[in-house]
Amino acid sequence: MEGMWKIGLFLLHCHLLVAPLAASCPIFLTISLAGKTLTEACLEVNWGPDCFAPPEWVGIYRQDPSVSNFQPELRIDGIRNRTGKRLTPIKLGKLHFPGGWNRPGDEQKTATRYPKGKCLPYYVASYNGTELLTIDCLKIQPNWLAHLKDAASMPLKRLFLPGTHASGAYITNYSKTKSLLVKDYLVAQHFDVWSQLVFGIRYLDLSVGYRNVDSSSEADNFWVVNENMFINPLIDVIRDVRRFVQLSNEVVVLDFSSFPIGFYKHPEIYSSLYHLIRQELGEVVYERNVSINEHCADRSFDDMRNGGRQVLLLFPTQELPHPENESVLLCTPWQRFSTSYMNISQTLDYMRLLFSRKPESPVQDDGWIFHAVKSIEQALNTHKLQTAKERAALINPKVNQWLNGPWGLNANVVAMDYFSNTNLVDVAIQVNTHKAFLAANDRFVNMEILTPRGGNKYSSQIYI
Ligand SMILES: *[C@@H]1O[C@H](CO)[C@@H](O)[C@H](O)[C@H]1NC(C)=O
Ligand SMILES: *[C@@H]1O[C@H](CO)[C@@H](O)[C@H](O)[C@H]1NC(C)=O
Ligand SMILES: *[C@@H]1O[C@H](CO)[C@@H](O)[C@H](O)[C@H]1NC(C)=O
Ligand SMILES: *[C@@H]1O[C@H](CO)[C@@H](O)[C@H](O)[C@H]1NC(C)=O
Ligand SMILES: *[C@@H]1O[C@H](CO)[C@@H](O)[C@H](O)[C@H]1NC(C)=O
Ligand SMILES: *[C@@H]1O[C@H](CO)[C@@H](O)[C@H](O)[C@H]1NC(C)=O
Repeated sequence: MEGMWKIGLFLLHCHLLVAPLAASCPIFLTISLAGKTLTEACLEVNWGPDCFAPPEWVGIYRQDPSVSNFQPELRIDGIRNRTGKRLTPIKLGKLHFPGGWNRPGDEQKTATRYPKGKCLPYYVASYNGTELLTIDCLKIQPNWLAHLKDAASMPLKRLFLPGTHASGAYITNYSKTKSLLVKDYLVAQHFDVWSQLVFGIRYLDLSVGYRNVDSSSEADNFWVVNENMFINPLIDVIRDVRRFVQLSNEVVVLDFSSFPIGFYKHPEIYSSLYHLIRQELGEVVYERNVSINEHCADRSFDDMRNGGRQVLLLFPTQELPHPENESVLLCTPWQRFSTSYMNISQTLDYMRLLFSRKPESPVQDDGWIFHAVKSIEQALNTHKLQTAKERAALINPKVNQWLNGPWGLNANVVAMDYFSNTNLVDVAIQVNTHKAFLAANDRFVNMEILTPRGGNKYSSQIYI
């Protein structure tokens, strides 16, 4: 009996060591979806999951409060529940990225490496009396993947890659866009693709449309579309991706997921798009070994970095007139799962099916993408036409919270609309750190563990 206890305690101890999430009350900052524009958006304070020992108070600062005794911009008391969120009146304002991470011109060749991220001037700290308990900030993470040493040799299908859905559906100038339909319903991201990547997003989902705009350049005919409306020129997105991988050496998975306008029965348009991609990204796209019919998700970050080709291109090769000529640069699309037409309780059930990796799960041993999104149609059923931000405000924090538990260990790509109301990138980094630790220490034990949340039974791997 006593021996059993000792093993049990030892297991628990090791689990805590590898799970830095065990702060008694994690507190973090996110960007609310309430404001109209990004500069008007307010900061939110989040706590949990599982805030066991709530702090007496939380302060928000514009400078690092661990350096000196600054007065907080805002003080919040009375945090009680295990998990929660509170909107603050502090506006984000105009964001500037430090270290050369604002969108660079072609002449800029380097930027400061931030292996552990770099705080923007928004900090949150929690206290009991004057005792500092936790500190966090809103941060950019342009180099997180390269910094995870043991994760670099793992196949991409084993990593948790934070992503965006409808990644090119953003607007940079709110007053220039007149259409309310576009502004409220079709725009899906606060940030342009450059900023998404600087924040740490590593998977992009692109829906492409074609219209002949009578330009001398074929590139001008390709657009990012969402729900059948043209939103942004595709070339802007592609160039952001190229500049980002050249500056950061990170890996980006670029998924050409749908072609709703102008492509149907036009293989020559697919071909023209492919030529544009090859011309713009050819030097940085990973080349697959076709002689062994290589699955791109089996490759690791190291494999891609060694070849200096760090964009993984997911593209429906079969649509091209001569697929065999192009197959070196193109990876077969990964499995996609979407919650578009589900309500919250169905979303939870679906995640249980996908992320628990039970035998009946449809997830195969390859790359896969979980689109945690709600469609307009689903929102219509609730009798009120919710805007894209309102939909993301409901689903994102839930999914983010559920991925904090053991399900996160089985995630591959998770993509959201308006990811900035979550700490998805931090969650992915924590999970990957944990996975890399497990992979580097090859003795595992599979254990069923019980979590206090709703009595759900999760399966987890624990190191002994
Ligand atoms: C902070 O103080 C509260 C009581 O005021 C207590 O419940 C909680 O456990 C303390 N938290 C920590 C981390 O010491
Ligand atoms: C805690 O949760 C309950 C029920 O969900 C809610 O009514 C209450 O306002 C929450 N309290 C705080 C301090 O967030
Ligand atoms: C945004 O668009 C408006 C109206 O077209 C224009 O006056 C303004 O200069 C633009 N702002 C920026 C930052 O480009
Ligand atoms: C493809 O894989 C085969 C078998 O592993 C190997 O012999 C060959 O060199 C590879 N080709 C390239 C271009 O890497
Ligand atoms: C593509 O391959 C086909 C046959 O497989 C060949 O006839 C054609 O010339 C090739 N086209 C290009 C552009 O390489
Ligand atoms: C979600 O949808 C299912 C099936 O339509 C329904 O049975 C359930 O009541 C819904 N749940 C909520 C919370 O709306």
